[in-house]
Amino acid sequence: MRIAMIGTGYVGLVSGACFADFGHQVTCVDKDGDKIKALRRGEIPIFEPGLDALVAANVKAGRLDFTTDLAAPVAASDAVFIAVGTPSRRGDGHADLSYVHAAAREIAAELAGFTVVVTKSTVPVGTGDEVERVIRETNPEADVVVASNPEFLREGAAIRDFKFPDRIVVGTSDERGRKVLGDIYRPLSLNQAPMMFTERRTAELIKYAANAFLATKITFINEIADLAEKVGANVQEVARGIGLDNRIGTKFLHAGPGFGGSCFPKDTRALVKIALDHDVQLRIVEAVLAVNDNRKRAMARKVLSAVGSSLRGKTIAVLGLTFKPDTDDMREAPSIPLVTGLLDLGAKVRAFDPVGMEAARHELPDIDYSDDAYACAKGADALVIVTEWVQFRALDLDRLKQEMAQPVIVDLRNIYRPEDMQARGFVYESVGRASEPRR
Ligand SMILES: NC(=O)c1ccc[n+]([C@@H]2O[C@H](COP(=O)([O-])OP(=O)(O)OC[C@H]3O[C@@H](n4cnc5c(N)ncnc54)[C@H](O)[C@@H]3O)[C@@H](O)[C@H]2O)c1
Repeated sequence: MRIAMIGTGYVGLVSGACFADFGHQVTCVDKDGDKIKALRRGEIPIFEPGLDALVAANVKAGRLDFTTDLAAPVAASDAVFIAVGTPSRRGDGHADLSYVHAAAREIAAELAGFTVVVTKSTVPVGTGDEVERVIRETNPEADVVVASNPEFLREGAAIRDFKFPDRIVVGTSDERGRKVLGDIYRPLSLNQAPMMFTERRTAELIKYAANAFLATKITFINEIADLAEKVGANVQEVARGIGLDNRIGTKFLHAGPGFGGSCFPKDTRALVKIALDHDVQLRIVEAVLAVNDNRKRAMARKVLSAVGSSLRGKTIAVLGLTFKPDTDDMREAPSIPLVTGLLDLGAKVRAFDPVGMEAARHELPDIDYSDDAYACAKGADALVIVTEWVQFRALDLDRLKQEMAQPVIVDLRNIYRPEDMQARGFVYESVGRASEPRR
């Protein structure tokens, strides 16, 4: 199969490289000339474990290349995937579809022979109809099927998720479209990945419903964590105790500082708006959004209460800035409202992240950055663990205590045990676990 991938970001680059690895001939297209130049030099513009080797191997094998010009690859392809961004539209929270529509117009002009145009970007229900309308309007002669194939990969585990997905969802009722997408994903049948064929609008809704459900699970356990703190229970054990029930499941039940990232916040916001446009009020999802927004900001007050009555003039060390480990993605990271809240309370903030500091400097220009966790902790009145990078799970705690002005740790990811930390003489606050163990 020949594939053109329009948009070479977190999703487009991983999907393109994995399709090439399946044996397909893939061209990744992006408007961003610097990104394409870097990729042609063999540099990967994002941090994603294993992606550099996968890209290099497939470029070397002649199955993967990069360009800013979509004309030739679109004309030559059996399938053209749209994997451009769909961020929140400024001001109203709707998904901004301007990149998708622009890509559809550009693709339409270049189509030659039967082609399946596949929307991989997360898009509101009905976007496939609109993409089809744009294509037919721009190029009435085109022999085209427009399908939906939402992507469920997670940053940080993207290659594994792409190659061993829980399911592949394909939305089209057209037989030729189903055949092309079935052929593209056939290599995954060896991995027993179930392929679900459905209508286009259903596929579009599946993606938003999945993200909203996962965001709800996280928000639910975060509220239970607040209650656990008040009643002297341990939220990690509550999560395990409910998660072992197969109807509930253990995943996405880790209490923390609130969800962030490039998908959950914007997709839950967009889903609420899609529903309102159809006179449906999704009150559960609305509540999830409101609870989560409050929670992210409240984390600064949690630090304040661990430190004492005021943060004015205090130095707070922050470990981890990206929205989760193993990515450099800072989009809507919980660290942003936390740090802003700390600054508003008069604190000086110093931060360290293993790979996210370059991206963080754009979002958080008014703080200091350190080269490692211990330099970050030096002279600090409290240390806050925000992202659970592996290297923060095994810190030399005695050294840390020596470096700090006050031995106060606020662990927003529950990676240490309260009793161990107290035994080492730390004031230790975590999420949903009483700081003094109760019997
Ligand atoms: N990031 C994730 O973990 C993830 C997971 C599942 C689904 N998604 C969805 O996938 C889509 C892409 O997300 P992302 O994180 O990869 O975005 P991204 O911002 O990393 O990448 C989008 C890329 O598209 C390029 N682009 C925009 N318009 C273009 C055009 N007309 N022609 C060529 N290139 C163009 C941009 O330059 C950019 O490099 C979004 O809809 C997102 O919701 C993302």
